[in-house]
Amino acid sequence: MKTLIIFSHTWFAQSKVNRALLEAAQDADNVTIRNLEELYGQNPEKIDVKAEQKLIEAADRIIFQCPVFWFSIPPMLKAYIDRVFEHGWAYGSQGHALEGKILQLVLSTGSPQESYQQPTIGELFLPLTAVGNYTGMEVAPIRVAYGCLTISDSDLQKICDNYKKLLNE
Ligand SMILES: Cc1cc2nc3c(=O)[nH]c(=O)nc-3n(C[C@H](O)[C@H](O)[C@H](O)COP(=O)(O)O)c2cc1C
Repeated sequence: MKTLIIFSHTWFAQSKVNRALLEAAQDADNVTIRNLEELYGQNPEKIDVKAEQKLIEAADRIIFQCPVFWFSIPPMLKAYIDRVFEHGWAYGSQGHALEGKILQLVLSTGSPQESYQQPTIGELFLPLTAVGNYTGMEVAPIRVAYGCLTISDSDLQKICDNYKKLLNE
């Protein structure tokens, strides 16, 4: 299965967890990584819509990987969806490009799992499930690395190993 990881982090230079996850992902087979801020900075206007659409067309599974910022996704990931998931390509009577592909969210949080009781992480990110459903994608369960501010090296290693396993499925 070909996987495309759309990664976004506003402060990637300071990232520990997502950096480790991306490094683990690089070791998996059939994975293409798009680091949005490395490619386009913080400027949504620079997003190469046609190039990104081509990469999605070649993939079976799309992963949106990012840290949770204020119970939401970083701005460049939102801008990517707004621009790349165009009418006539992603939706509308002629828009079928995403149909049948898998969509999965891979998130990291500062707060521990206990903090996500009400609303749950699934409830918070319902809009992205809706994006997947609306465009005919199969939405896979959200993966979350909780409590990243105090994560131990061994827990981080486990999370990275599990990510590699997921990507090799
Ligand atoms: C502006 C900002 C907003 C944040 N909002 C949240 C939040 O709503 N919930 C949460 O659990 N953590 C929040 N965090 C913590 C980040 O999610 C956490 O630092 C990140 O997932 C760690 O991954 P990294 O090591 O790749 O940066 C926030 C951090 C920043 C800088």
